[in-house]
Amino acid sequence: MGFSKDSCCVCMLQLFIVVCLIVQCVDVKVHADLNATLTVNASLASARRIPDTLFGIFFEEINHAGAGGLWAELVSNRGFEAGGPNTPSNIDPWSIIGNETYINVVTDRTSIFERNKVALRLEVLCDSTCPADGVGVYNPGFWGMNIEQGKKYKVVFYARSTGPLNLTVSLTGSNGVGSLASTVITGSASDFSNWTKVETVLEAKATNGNSRLQLTTTTKGVVWLDQVSAMPLDTYKGHGFRNDLFQMVADMKPSFIRFPGGCFVEGDYLRNAFRWKASVGPWEERPGHFGDVWKYWTDDGLGYYEFLQLSEDLGALPIWVFNNGVSHNDEVDTSSVLPFVQEALDGLEFARGDPTSKWGSLRAAMGHPEPFNLKYVAVGNEDCGKKNYRGNYLRFYSAIRHAYPDIQIISNCDGSSTPLDHPADLYDYHIYTSANDMFSKSTAFNRVTRNGPKAFVSEYAVTGNDAGQGSLLAALAEAGFLIGIEKNSDIVNMASYAPLFVNANDRRWNPDAIVFNSFQHYGTPSYWMQLFFSESNGATLLNSSLQATGSNSLIASAITWQNSADKKTYIRIKAVNFGASAVNLKISFNELDPNSLQSSGSSKTVLTSPNLMDENSFLQPKKVAPINSLLQNVGKDMSVTVPPHSFTSLDLLKESSNLKMPGSDSSSSSSV
Ligand SMILES: *[C@@H]1O[C@H](CO)[C@@H](O)[C@H](O)[C@H]1NC(C)=O
Ligand SMILES: *[C@@H]1O[C@H](CO)[C@@H](O)[C@H](O)[C@H]1NC(C)=O
Ligand SMILES: *[C@@H]1O[C@H](CO)[C@@H](O)[C@H](O)[C@H]1NC(C)=O
Ligand SMILES: *[C@@H]1O[C@H](CO)[C@@H](O)[C@H](O)[C@H]1NC(C)=O
Ligand SMILES: *[C@@H]1O[C@H](CO)[C@@H](O)[C@H](O)[C@H]1NC(C)=O
Ligand SMILES: *[C@@H]1O[C@H](CO)[C@@H](O)[C@H](O)[C@H]1NC(C)=O
Repeated sequence: MGFSKDSCCVCMLQLFIVVCLIVQCVDVKVHADLNATLTVNASLASARRIPDTLFGIFFEEINHAGAGGLWAELVSNRGFEAGGPNTPSNIDPWSIIGNETYINVVTDRTSIFERNKVALRLEVLCDSTCPADGVGVYNPGFWGMNIEQGKKYKVVFYARSTGPLNLTVSLTGSNGVGSLASTVITGSASDFSNWTKVETVLEAKATNGNSRLQLTTTTKGVVWLDQVSAMPLDTYKGHGFRNDLFQMVADMKPSFIRFPGGCFVEGDYLRNAFRWKASVGPWEERPGHFGDVWKYWTDDGLGYYEFLQLSEDLGALPIWVFNNGVSHNDEVDTSSVLPFVQEALDGLEFARGDPTSKWGSLRAAMGHPEPFNLKYVAVGNEDCGKKNYRGNYLRFYSAIRHAYPDIQIISNCDGSSTPLDHPADLYDYHIYTSANDMFSKSTAFNRVTRNGPKAFVSEYAVTGNDAGQGSLLAALAEAGFLIGIEKNSDIVNMASYAPLFVNANDRRWNPDAIVFNSFQHYGTPSYWMQLFFSESNGATLLNSSLQATGSNSLIASAITWQNSADKKTYIRIKAVNFGASAVNLKISFNELDPNSLQSSGSSKTVLTSPNLMDENSFLQPKKVAPINSLLQNVGKDMSVTVPPHSFTSLDLLKESSNLKMPGSDSSSSSSV
């Protein structure tokens, strides 16, 4: 990721941008001073079907993408395990309500759950002498809980008590003031002499995006708490996914989801790597783990099963990345790797096995007797250069090929430069680079051998100064790169941006596609850029060629696709203008009936902004977002002006339709 090498180029580019902006300010009317012609052969004989799988997503548990993000659990460190298995332990982010005159709070190892023994012990020293609001503990969630008026929240916890229990469960403002919802849980000493599960549903009477959960009492005695969960009832299909974030992803129409990482799968050390078996079964029995690469604890509520469910809910193929006995700092010898191979085979049985099989029955017990549609696995992440990778990989490859011949196996070794020395169905290709380099990589696959395994561009993004926290510049360069991918989709079968999500309170990695906090979200320009490709999966790539004079900063493609909503067929032209001049683009269709394209029903979408470094924010979530407008003068030979620094998509309605737009004047689009 070293940017120092490129800093000089970056400075030059920034100077260049500043100069361009000054020129644009002075010369208010932008001249269409460059000319280009896109010749499209509309004949299907020279066309090629784009793989159904081409554009998908990569979900990594980074930046609190899942815990405190897409996974709607509101309580952080619900089992008090984040401080480690030894007591006394840090209970952060839990805090104590009341000082030591009134309450004494410790962790001990008395939980009934074998894999997460730590529980919280509250010794209440006061009774009628307690502060009026009681004493106890609160949890602020992940930088505040989003509680919405009229919505219901299911609170579940396990409690034990030396005497009668009288515990107030409430959702309040961030400072404990202002009750949003509250209930009292009571029971006799015998009711709670042993661990007892408590479930209650709270309905919020007000909205606060920065709330907290409180458990308080004014009853003297000792109370233990464990596995405290608060989930909104309103999640996607009740499956636990935060609705607004799920919808942002669904709008991308991803064909696949690669999960759960990334480096998260490897771990800095193997002992901290994600283990699928520790992430399935009843949530309260999961041990949780510390992800040592991205430096935070996860309770693993979003586990292997939930990822498979997420794939199904998105209509996306799951791509399971598993650990191959290699982390960033330690490796298992190939001679000792068989337990890891068995772990992967068990994971495949969990996903696909018969409900009567050992692991398939656990899946069925969790609510999904039907197998999940798992057809792709990746053996590790970015491990190709590691000492034991090839040896380990071959063990996984032969075992999986033998047991599941239809599963596509992905190698970490980049086969685009030199042919792989081992069998694979696909190979990973990762690229994080500057904007200019990314744009130039649109041709990266032009000359790659067509004989070997297919390429999976499983992580790409412009990073560093060109990208900031998600700039227009980054999105334009990536758009150029993706058009190159689309054109090379005979060899590149899958591509996904990285990372997908960032909680603004834990920016481990910039930039990201979707930014959120407890109650807000927005897409970066790179998010919106990806939506331009959401109709490409399974579409038809038309043969086109671009002739441009005086500019090599333009790249374009043509596809035909069918809109599932109106069942109509469109030709979509996408053009990235990476340069500072507007381009007058002539589009000329061969092998097309003169009247088969029409203005009415055709439209134009443009992603641009006055400043190349413009970003979106919670305050201006759509500062850089696509603008849609009607399109005029559509035909076999047509021309459009492509604004400087823009990504433009034209949807041209093909064949006749009954719809006539009377007098249809395009609404905006001053630059065309
Ligand atoms: C583009 O074409 C216009 C006329 O259509 C012409 O005036 C202009 O000089 C051309 N620009 C270039 C860079 O060739
Ligand atoms: C696309 O067109 C070019 C000429 O413009 C031709 O060389 C090439 O073979 C065509 N490709 C296909 C798949 O027909
Ligand atoms: C369009 O492609 C077809 C099939 O490759 C070819 O026969 C035809 O000549 C092409 N048309 C033009 C104008 O290049
Ligand atoms: C606890 O709070 C009470 C009331 O504010 C105060 O009187 C008492 O001194 C405090 N005790 C300690 C140990 O700080
Ligand atoms: C629980 O405690 C509250 C005061 O904190 C009291 O008003 C209520 O009567 C108690 N309930 C029971 C069942 O003891
Ligand atoms: C307490 O509950 C657990 C689990 O529900 C059970 O295994 C155990 O036997 C119970 N202990 C007593 C003393 O009832």
